[in-house]
Amino acid sequence: MSTCTLSRRGSEAPASPIRALAGIARATAQRGTTVHALNIGQPDIPTPPQMIQAYRDFHDEVLAYAPSDGFEDLRASLAAWYPRGGGVARSLDPDDIVVTTGGSEALLFAIACVADPGDEILVCEPYYTNYAGFSHMLGVEVSPVTLSAADGFTVHPDKIEAAITGRTRAIVLPTPGNPTGTVLSAEELAQIASICAERDIFFICDEVYRDFVYDVPPGTRAASVLDQPVADEYAIVIDSVSKRYSACGARVGWLVTRNSEVREAALRFGQARLSPATVDQYAAKAALDVPESWFRDVNAEYQNRRNILVEGLRGIGLDVPMPGGAFYLAIPLPIDDADAFCSWLVGSFELGGETVCLAPLSGFYRTPGLGSNEVRMAYCVQQDVLTQCVTILDAGLKAWKDR
Ligand SMILES: Cc1ncc(COP(=O)(O)O)c(C=O)c1O
Repeated sequence: MSTCTLSRRGSEAPASPIRALAGIARATAQRGTTVHALNIGQPDIPTPPQMIQAYRDFHDEVLAYAPSDGFEDLRASLAAWYPRGGGVARSLDPDDIVVTTGGSEALLFAIACVADPGDEILVCEPYYTNYAGFSHMLGVEVSPVTLSAADGFTVHPDKIEAAITGRTRAIVLPTPGNPTGTVLSAEELAQIASICAERDIFFICDEVYRDFVYDVPPGTRAASVLDQPVADEYAIVIDSVSKRYSACGARVGWLVTRNSEVREAALRFGQARLSPATVDQYAAKAALDVPESWFRDVNAEYQNRRNILVEGLRGIGLDVPMPGGAFYLAIPLPIDDADAFCSWLVGSFELGGETVCLAPLSGFYRTPGLGSNEVRMAYCVQQDVLTQCVTILDAGLKAWKDR
C-alpha cells in the first residue's frame, strides 16, 4: 500500500449526491428488478437527427485539436443563434463566446476567472451540486442563501444582497433552476445584475435550461441576463448543448461574457487544456439548425410530464410546488431521513418487480441538516412511467412508515 497521501482537495472532494445511489441501483437491476431512474437529469428525448448526421458526416483523416476557445465558425453561429432562435434580443459578438467541454467546464472556468482560494461565491440552496464541487476544486468557499419549499423555492434578490460580504466575488444562480425549477423573470435578473454592478461582483448565470419553460406561449424562452445592459461587465452566462438538444454526451458547452478581461482569462484556462472536442463542435453547429417546431414539441412533452408528476404526487397527499421550468421537482416527503429512505427504496423495496431511484436533497444544501426530508425527481422518463413511479413511491412511503 502506498504511503503517498492525497491532497485535502482530493480526499475531501464531495461525492455527487445525484450519482450516490448508482451502485445500489445497479445491484437491484442485476437482481432483475426494473429501476426507474428519476435521480438523474439525463433527457430521454431523442437527440435531433441533424446532430447525429454531423457525427456520421465526419471523414477527416486526422482528428485534430480545435482552437482553445472553440471553432470560430461555431462561435459565430452561436452568436447569430441567440438573437435568431435563442430568445435573446441584444446582439452578441463571436468573441464574447468561449467554447468549453460542456457547461461544466464553463462553470469551472467562470468561477476560476473571478474567485481566488479563500474567496466566496453566493449560491441559493438547494443548488446544483457541482457549484460546490468546482468551488471545492478551486479552494473557493460556497456561501448559501436558503430557499424554502413552502415558498415555492422563490429567489429573493434582497436576501441575496444581504448575504454579500467583503469576500463575495460572484453570485452563481441557475435559471431555470436545478433542482428547484424556479425561473427568474427579466425584472429579477435586472435586480440581481444591478446588485452585482453596485457591489462590484460577478453574476455567473447558469442558463443551460433556458429552453424549458412552461405555462407560457409556445416558443418562449426564459429571460437571459444577456439582455440586461447593466450586466454587461458583470455577467458570465453558462450554456450547453446537453439539455437543449438532449445531447449530454457531446460535451459541448460555452461561456458568454461581454467582459473582455474575463474572456481573456477563460481563454488562457482553455489554452491549458488545449481544446474542446473537435467532432462534437461540428455536431453542436449542426444543432443550431434544429427547427423551432422541435423545441415546441419537446417543451410540450416536458410540460405534460411535469403536470402528470405534480398532480400524481399531490394525489397521494404530498405538498408539491409547481415549478416553472427545467425538468426537476424538489419536494419534501413525510420522512425524516431522505438519504436512508432513497437508498432503501431503490435497494430493498419493489412493487411488482419495479422500483424508483430518487436523489436525496441533503447534498444540494450547504447548511447542515437542511434538505434531510427532501428529494429531487427528474421527469426525463415517459409519462406512463411517471404515473407508475408515483404509485411505487406511494407504496414505498407506506411500507417505510410500517417497517
Ligand atoms: C444547472 C446545471 N448547470 C450545468 C450543468 C452542466 O451540464 P453539461 O456539462 O452537461 O453541459 C448541469 C448538468 O446537469 C446543470 O444541471
